[in-house]
Amino acid sequence: MSVGIERLAVYVPQYALRLTDLAAARGVPPEKLTTGLGVREMTIPAPCEDVVTLAATAGARLLRAADVDPDEIGMLLVATETGVDHSKPVSIFVHDLLGIGSRCRVYELKHACYAGTAALMTAADWVRAGGGRPRRALIIAADIARYQVGSAGEPTQGAGAVAMLVGAAPRALVLEEQSGTHAGNVHDFWRPLDRREAIVDGKYSVECYLEALAGAFGTYRALERPVLAAGEALADRLARLLYHTPFPKMAVKAHRRLVELDWRAAGRWRDGDTTLEDAAATSYRELAAPGLEAVARVGNTYTASLYLCLAALLEAEGRALAGRRLGLFSYGSGCCAEFFTGAVPRGVETVADAGVAALLAGRRFVDVDGYERLVRAGETGGEPPADFTGAFVFAGVRNQRRVYARPGALAA
Ligand code: CAA
Repeated sequence: MSVGIERLAVYVPQYALRLTDLAAARGVPPEKLTTGLGVREMTIPAPCEDVVTLAATAGARLLRAADVDPDEIGMLLVATETGVDHSKPVSIFVHDLLGIGSRCRVYELKHACYAGTAALMTAADWVRAGGGRPRRALIIAADIARYQVGSAGEPTQGAGAVAMLVGAAPRALVLEEQSGTHAGNVHDFWRPLDRREAIVDGKYSVECYLEALAGAFGTYRALERPVLAAGEALADRLARLLYHTPFPKMAVKAHRRLVELDWRAAGRWRDGDTTLEDAAATSYRELAAPGLEAVARVGNTYTASLYLCLAALLEAEGRALAGRRLGLFSYGSGCCAEFFTGAVPRGVETVADAGVAALLAGRRFVDVDGYERLVRAGETGGEPPADFTGAFVFAGVRNQRRVYARPGALAA
């Protein structure tokens, strides 16, 4: 039985800041952010949005695009590291807002940015375990990436959600069953319970990411080795490689490391051969760069980052990739990582519009004062702006309960 992603839908809030404006305000050369980190714009949510409204909006867009009756969903998983309560999961608010039936397994998953992949793998296993009974899961990865204003992490903020329908008729990506994983207790990035912004040991987090990539990719490559010809690199069998992308330069570093590992294992990387760096750079341009267009304009979306890359890639060049394989690398600080592969089915173009291009084209840019006002305001809840693009708003907290509504219902 083929199992995988039937369709994806994205939601990105409507406010954005140009990184050249941020660089000017912080007194750093703009090239440090646009070239050094590779980020061009970052997304900022409105005060009436939180992770529940982001996730529910992506979910509503997906159910509408795929024309799925919410009662068909037997499992709803929400992956996030921006939880709104220590006990009550984001997923049960989303379940209510989407009108999904009560015969459904519903929970929230957390392992930093890896949780989106944990949800995808859990949902795929659940569909496979159905023994031929039709099963469909809705999984949503949603986050708001926040660092201290003025910190090194500030230019890598972002916000967004990706919803994926997982089932036995995968028209967007057929998941291959084997994968390579890596885990270990490291203190590279975390957010203590009383804090809104993450704490990060930035340079160390980059090292941890690359070490986890080596572990997960190495395990995967060993599984695939029996089918590789002598001297053949695994990357030669992949049309594109997508990486968890906190900022695009991280994917540049990741791809360089993966190519070296892959080519060394294939006997093609010889120390001292200066032509290899150029070959690795060419490989990056062909295999990795095409997946980074949207994240460079949205910023880090933590759990959703890898899947935003996937959604944008299929939307931009799904037809050309039909019948070909993709490699995907997921990293969650702390840490857990997974390298896995999937095949793009023929006919993918009929489901490839995940809304990314339209959302990015419709955003409103704010200046640095406007951005700082939005950050200071935080999630106050309440009236949405006139041009609000979300499907739900956070109305506020009443009697210790979080309240959500349709934008129109609140105005009434
Ligand atoms: N022109 C061009 N490039 C310039 C430049 C200029 N004028 N000035 C500096 N640069 C380059 C630097 O050479 C550097 O590039 P390389 O890494 O290729 O050498 C790049 O710009 C960044 O410069 P710094 O390393 O000096 O930047 P920094 O220390 O201020 O911040 C960071 C970098 C530590 C990654 C910071 O952005 C951060 O803390 N980010 C959050 C943590 C993060 O995203 N970690 C990633 C791995 S963990 C993960 O993936 C999970 C997750 O989602 C958080």
